[in-house]
Amino acid sequence: MYYGGYLQLDKILGAQYPASFEPGNEPAHDEMLFIIIHQAYELWFKQILFELDYSISIFSKEKINDNSEDLNLVRHRLHRVTDILQLLIQQVHILDTMTPLDFLEFRNLLTPSSGFQSKQFRLIEARLGLQLDSRHHKEYYKRTNEGGFTLNDYQHITETENQKTLLQLVNNWLERMPFFETAYWSDHTDKIDNHPFWTEYRKIYTNGLTEREKSKIDDFDYVFFEKQSDTLSREQMDQLRSYFSPAAMRAALFIMLYRDFPVFQTSYQILDALIEIDHLMSNWRHKHLIMVRRMIGMRVGTGNTSGAGYLEGALNKHYVYRDLSGLSTYLIERKKLPKLPDALIRSLGFQL
Ligand code: HEM
Repeated sequence: MYYGGYLQLDKILGAQYPASFEPGNEPAHDEMLFIIIHQAYELWFKQILFELDYSISIFSKEKINDNSEDLNLVRHRLHRVTDILQLLIQQVHILDTMTPLDFLEFRNLLTPSSGFQSKQFRLIEARLGLQLDSRHHKEYYKRTNEGGFTLNDYQHITETENQKTLLQLVNNWLERMPFFETAYWSDHTDKIDNHPFWTEYRKIYTNGLTEREKSKIDDFDYVFFEKQSDTLSREQMDQLRSYFSPAAMRAALFIMLYRDFPVFQTSYQILDALIEIDHLMSNWRHKHLIMVRRMIGMRVGTGNTSGAGYLEGALNKHYVYRDLSGLSTYLIERKKLPKLPDALIRSLGFQL
């Protein structure tokens, strides 16, 4: 075993070919930084995909044993993804040491390639659960001509988009949570919206709303019970809950509320990590957008989109776990939480 051999450094360190260093061109010093920073990003994207694939493989199991290491490893590895994303956000600063004039020295040589074509970035988005139909300017993603993807990359991205995403698998996992089963709530035999827990919770939540917030109860009924009120338009409903089912949202809220019980900690941290990943992806998009504005102003991108305009749209629209972060709207104070039945607590695996 030899350091350079194990790490294949010949390949990695021999993979920087600045276009401006080619014969006939004027060498642009900063193009080396430009290449290295992109390559560093792509390496980290690879690691992120590796961790997401692990989580997907666990959530793909028909039954996840809460008493095995599975969920804890998912939690641990999703937190690793958040740490990597923090680093990727900071890395944008290094690129800021290149001025717009420095960039102009080699920018035209790059056309029509662009970070837009980063297959791994698209795979991360797709694995997390971003669907083509929810993308800003979705027609951009179907391009296999100039500025778009190669046919191979396009097919790979489309295939991944058609596979089960982390979002769908987490939704199914949440739906399987047994919290509201009749066995634990002795006086309950009716539909879920008449369930004793939800009847009490809805009352406490309503009482906690201020006058200006009164309409939030309509949102609550839609998000958790699919009840549609005349006051809500289709667009508003999509804003409130677009990807997760009402059953999954009920389980997620329950986990968030009772997170202080040790038995819910891991599940809570997994949900929190997903919200954090969304948050950090959007922080990265924002930093990248600000850097792009400074670098090229309002010029179109080398990848032939409208440039900063496109990036701003993607920033606003490409949230995947918005439904989960929206759950904060429906929390109540700890001291008002309904007491859980003993049978439920016992079955969840901890003693009173
Ligand atoms: C001088 C530096 C940079 C400039 C001026 C720039 C510019 C742009 C522009 C204008 C776009 C929109 C697509 C287009 O028309 O080209 C874009 C997209 C993108 N760029 Fe950059 N970029 C820079 C650096 C980077 C770096 C270092 C990365 C790291 C991987 C990166 C990754 C991406 C990604 C992933 C997208 C797609 C974003 C999305 O769809 O939300 N860019 N970039």
